[in-house]
Amino acid sequence: MTDDRERWNEKYSTDEAFELPDDPIPALERRIDSLPTGRALDVATGTGRNARFLAGNGYVVDAVDVADEALARAASAAEAEGVDGDVTWIRADVADFEFERSAYDVITVGFFAALELLPDIKEALAPGGVLIYEHHLRSSDPIDIGPSNDRYRFRANDLLRACLDLTILEYRERTRDGDGGTQAVATLVGRHSAGGRQSYPRATG
Ligand SMILES: C[S@@+](CC[C@H](N)C(=O)[O-])C[C@H]1O[C@@H](n2cnc3c(N)ncnc32)[C@H](O)[C@@H]1O
Repeated sequence: MTDDRERWNEKYSTDEAFELPDDPIPALERRIDSLPTGRALDVATGTGRNARFLAGNGYVVDAVDVADEALARAASAAEAEGVDGDVTWIRADVADFEFERSAYDVITVGFFAALELLPDIKEALAPGGVLIYEHHLRSSDPIDIGPSNDRYRFRANDLLRACLDLTILEYRERTRDGDGGTQAVATLVGRHSAGGRQSYPRATG
């Protein structure tokens, strides 16, 4: 049993204050109609909010997490929503996970620090595939949500710098108020595409 497996299973089983949101990452929800359709991968899926949303929108989804307890909750929520047939729940430590190359039209990563895995994650994107990644930032503002140890938060532009080989469709750093309080968040939407003349999704604002 890896350290992460033990630690996260315990967190899910004993920390009553630890509750993950049920809605998908806002950037995923906002962009769903302009994303390429097909296969999706949700890295460190937790209780599967992104995976379930993607399955509900017609994707065939692989969802990976190290914690058995998280996947049990994710699968039960997917069953209740009638999308369990479209998600393969994979119990694995991402450090050992074999990312399938050029396979996924959409990859989501929510609130999991995986800068060192980004080369594998980006290689798993199909041509034209889109990565949507949201994570906590180190901040000098008072913050309520996220890891107490800054080691698990990104610095300004960490995520952007690690994805400059993608076409950056969106990158934002800001504080945001939600149910549990204020959080400092970076959001990146990047496409595996190249060239000086590309087609871009239509956006408002
Ligand atoms: C803060 S939760 C985020 C869950 C989900 N992405 C979301 O946004 O709701 C972090 C998740 O990462 C998973 N995790 C931690 N270390 C991992 C590892 N080495 N491999 C796979 N998953 C891991 C945990 O089990 C947990 O479900």
